[in-house]
Amino acid sequence: MFIRVCLAGATGWAGSELARGIARSPDVSLVAAVARRHAGQVLGDVLQEPLLTSRVYGSAAEALATPCDVFVEYTTPDTAKANILTALEAGVHVVVGTSGLTEVDFDEIDAVARRQTRGVLACGNFALTVVLLQRFAEMAARLIPQWEIIDYAHDDKVDAPSGTARELAARLSRVRAPIATVPVEQTVGLPEARGATLASSQVHSVRLPGFVISAEIIFGMPDQKLTIRHDSGSSAVPYVDGALLAIRRVATLVGVHRGLETVLDL
Ligand SMILES: NC(=O)c1ccc[n+]([C@@H]2O[C@H](COP(=O)([O-])OP(=O)(O)OC[C@H]3O[C@@H](n4cnc5c(N)ncnc54)[C@H](OP(=O)(O)O)[C@@H]3O)[C@@H](O)[C@H]2O)c1
Repeated sequence: MFIRVCLAGATGWAGSELARGIARSPDVSLVAAVARRHAGQVLGDVLQEPLLTSRVYGSAAEALATPCDVFVEYTTPDTAKANILTALEAGVHVVVGTSGLTEVDFDEIDAVARRQTRGVLACGNFALTVVLLQRFAEMAARLIPQWEIIDYAHDDKVDAPSGTARELAARLSRVRAPIATVPVEQTVGLPEARGATLASSQVHSVRLPGFVISAEIIFGMPDQKLTIRHDSGSSAVPYVDGALLAIRRVATLVGVHRGLETVLDL
């Protein structure tokens, strides 16, 4: 028995590394891939990995004509929602790696997933070290009522805040809303300088050449502060094991679930 996967974004930075990871996994099989520029080609020829024999299709709808168990979304924020809904309507479980979806998008996806009794596991970051950042931040937020989030990324990242920052803010809002000594709307000068308010947290996104992806949360207390920070390296390798775990476990879920620890025993 193996899990049949359709991978959208299979030729991209993150998707191609996951495709190679699937090729090395005896219990997971890549049966279809989605990417526009290489549509019609064999994925293994594009990635120079002979074990990847599936075809590349130009759209999710075409790729989903090949029966599969799990659809993995790794394209762009503006394509992701339509792809996810197409997969759910086709009766397939979904793993979402793409960032940039909003809470409203997830509410809509959740309704369709529950109607279809299918699972959606959305992870803004599949790296184990980011899962730990989120868990440690939740622990700190129980004891420290004031914090702000900073996300750093390469200059050509189109979405902001990052998926990691969005997920972090959403998680911390379930612990408590942070207390602002001066509420943002009472800022003298430019309230925008205080960042975006996301699920009650202030989030600041830096987009500059020289950065890969980092997430930082600063907790402040009188005369002391705690900084928890994660830095990604330059390859997509750290995301592979987490994405494979999500692929293996998503069929145990119904509706939208956020974060890899949904399926981790932490
Ligand atoms: N969750 C995580 O751990 C994690 C890790 C890394 C990245 N990400 C997120 O994953 C997403 C992809 O990142 P990336 O760096 O891999 O991007 P990328 O290198 O630009 O790859 C995007 C992939 O999607 C395909 N694509 C784009 N638009 C498409 C469309 N309309 N229809 C079909 N295929 C389309 C591209 O191929 P064509 O252009 O040929 O269509 C390519 O294969 C981003 O949102 C990123 O933030 C998440």
